[in-house]
Amino acid sequence: MKFFADTADVDAIRELNDLGLLDGVTTNPSLIKKSGRNILEVTKEICDIVDGPVSAEVTATDADEMIAEGRKLAKIADNIAVKVPLTLDGLKACKVLSGEGTMVNVTLCFSANQALLAAKAGATFISPFIGRLDDINVDGMDLIAEIRQIFDNYGFETQILAASIRTVNHVKDSAMIGADVITAPPAVIKSLANHPLTDKGLDAFLADIKAAGIKIL
Ligand code: E4P
Repeated sequence: MKFFADTADVDAIRELNDLGLLDGVTTNPSLIKKSGRNILEVTKEICDIVDGPVSAEVTATDADEMIAEGRKLAKIADNIAVKVPLTLDGLKACKVLSGEGTMVNVTLCFSANQALLAAKAGATFISPFIGRLDDINVDGMDLIAEIRQIFDNYGFETQILAASIRTVNHVKDSAMIGADVITAPPAVIKSLANHPLTDKGLDAFLADIKAAGIKIL
């Protein structure tokens, strides 16, 4: 399973990349706004840090404009994935941009039928939003499972990118179901390493190291 960081914070991206935990990055207009940076500049900087796909979202809602924006974004770097919304115009733009060899991430997916359309449009990634479904008392994980089954039924190669992840359990459940990628805030990715018994065990080992004067170097 691939881990993407869901952020436009270059310091956080660099930290995860240095840990060897990063396979890509996703951004969206809200994350770009939060960064306070110019979209083209910050996206270029992220692409220079990370080897894997970096999703950058179009601002247009009309297919022709999305295609023009997508072509401009794709010129930033080879690892750009153009992000388009799951609308009919977005699907049309997806088909054209994918046909030109550009990676496309279709975002704002909330149903299995939407995911099916994105796969048929040649999307590289489909982004079902787990957390936002949970927010309205719909189990986001059921959607991941439905999409997994449909894609496996027909051999679609579109990767399921579980998005809008809020908790470590979202990551585990996505992995159990077989999502290809999760994108999560850096804090969630780092907290996957946490366990109180790890901390307790390490404290005991450190005490014994000190008491016995154990040295390796
Ligand atoms: C990533 O591609 C999505 O835009 C992001 O995960 C949405 O997350 P949110 O629901 O926390 O805004």
